[in-house]
Amino acid sequence: MKLALIGFGTVGQGLAEILRDKAADLQDKEGFDAQIVAVVTRARGSLYRPDGLDIPALLGAMERGSLSHYPDQTGLQRDWDAAKIARESSADVLVEVSPSNLQTGQPALDLCYAALDSGKHVVLANKGPVAAAYGELRQRAEKAGKRLLFEATVMAGTPSLRLGMQALVGCKIAEARGILNGTTNYILTRMEGGMSYAEALAQAQQLGYAEADPTADVDGWDAAAKAIILSAALFNQRLTFEDMDVKGISQITAQDIEAARAAGQRWKLIARVTPEGGSVQPLRLPNDHPLASVSGSTNAVTYSTDLLGEVTLVGSGAGRQQTGFGLLSDLLDIHRLWRS
Ligand code: HSE
Repeated sequence: MKLALIGFGTVGQGLAEILRDKAADLQDKEGFDAQIVAVVTRARGSLYRPDGLDIPALLGAMERGSLSHYPDQTGLQRDWDAAKIARESSADVLVEVSPSNLQTGQPALDLCYAALDSGKHVVLANKGPVAAAYGELRQRAEKAGKRLLFEATVMAGTPSLRLGMQALVGCKIAEARGILNGTTNYILTRMEGGMSYAEALAQAQQLGYAEADPTADVDGWDAAAKAIILSAALFNQRLTFEDMDVKGISQITAQDIEAARAAGQRWKLIARVTPEGGSVQPLRLPNDHPLASVSGSTNAVTYSTDLLGEVTLVGSGAGRQQTGFGLLSDLLDIHRLWRS
């Protein structure tokens, strides 16, 4: 399976590391053999080689600051831009891991269309295109007969979408609610331990949890985008940010945290979506509430179903390896269908 990566930051490098470290295992277990044939970044160069790029050399070049440090190899192109790679490269799958533009989904959205229209599957960790244009993307994928997968967009590699869209497909889901942003949950947890808001945010950035622009996290928009994606995936509904009631955690003070603690409660940023609409709100939950004990960058989602009652999934919500794994799970899904 030949992959073209659009973006090569935390998440793209996380996927590359997994492919490097698990190559033998994945070959053994699944007969899965993936090759990165293209990597494009916004400011750190681009590489395309139809016979495959060397993963350790790619990671080494980025450690030195740019893909320009990647050694010369026969057949290597350094001047293909993202649009040309999406359309003309020999990749089987376009992997979109550039920073999310939650409003328009661009420029990633057009690249996804170009990839689908030219016969490539599309796998995303970038939330922008899915939140902004799920319906159109789905249609384009169906028309092209290609897969469109985006497990990594909600709860990183924790299989929230696969659970809702596949395992629970025979149930009617009335509501999904939970903690869908790792950065804010990490900040709230650290503030409970006495750390300042600013320091906790800086740590979340350092650990690779936060978005390139962390206001998307702390103001609730990242969680809202995930709620929009869940709503599209589960309810086939096209919510926009304007339809949602969104509030983040940037106004929560050390005093608010302490007041909750004294009352046996914890602040959590709770996203909720039903077929009628959605919201993101900081709420004080009693300590014995199931979501109150979900701490750090861990996320959780509870699906309210007709046949099983409540089904809750708890797991990693952000991070290099965790999100890289989400992408891998989609690639393996495509591979399995290929094989059968
Ligand atoms: N910034 C996001 C978060 C990354 O903190 O949850 C995962 O989507």
